[in-house]
Amino acid sequence: MTPTQELTNEHRVIERMLAVVWKAADGLERGEMVDKKIFEDAVDFFKNFADKCHHGKEEKLLFVRMKQRGMSDKTGPLAVMLAEHDEGRAHVRAIGENAGRVLSSKTQKDIVEHSRAYVQLLSAHIEKEDNILYPMANRILTNADQEDLTKGFEEIEEKVMGPGVHEKYHKIIEEWERKVG
Ligand SMILES: [Fe+2]
Ligand SMILES: [Fe+2]
Repeated sequence: MTPTQELTNEHRVIERMLAVVWKAADGLERGEMVDKKIFEDAVDFFKNFADKCHHGKEEKLLFVRMKQRGMSDKTGPLAVMLAEHDEGRAHVRAIGENAGRVLSSKTQKDIVEHSRAYVQLLSAHIEKEDNILYPMANRILTNADQEDLTKGFEEIEEKVMGPGVHEKYHKIIEEWERKVG
């Protein structure tokens, strides 16, 4: 598996959690009783799996190597991707703060708004990476770059994520997929 294939596979996992959050926001908007743990679990997943692990591989390794091969990180695709990661972090923080409170109507409204904004932002972000940025990476990176990235990704898996963490998140996603239908 190449480094960008690995990242693309992670996108498919992230999209499943985005779908869960979207449906939970639908439920809140319809005035249904929604277990707020869904948002707490989603925030935990987005902070660890999506941000620390996946965005870590992109920001600390892939994007850095693309910059070394001549791409700017101040303008153009890399700058946009980095700005979107930051924008996403702000939404996740807001969802987390609100999910930690009593679910008043104001809190619910904030959760729905930030959830919708985050899902839309990240879905479009993923599409851009899958279709534009990763193919671009594969054109400009050398074979040695690809090998270095593979090793670097393995290191992030071992040191940042640790054993069993992917499996834990897959279980959590499956559980919420069953509950939100
Ligand atoms: Fe990204
Ligand atoms: Fe990504």
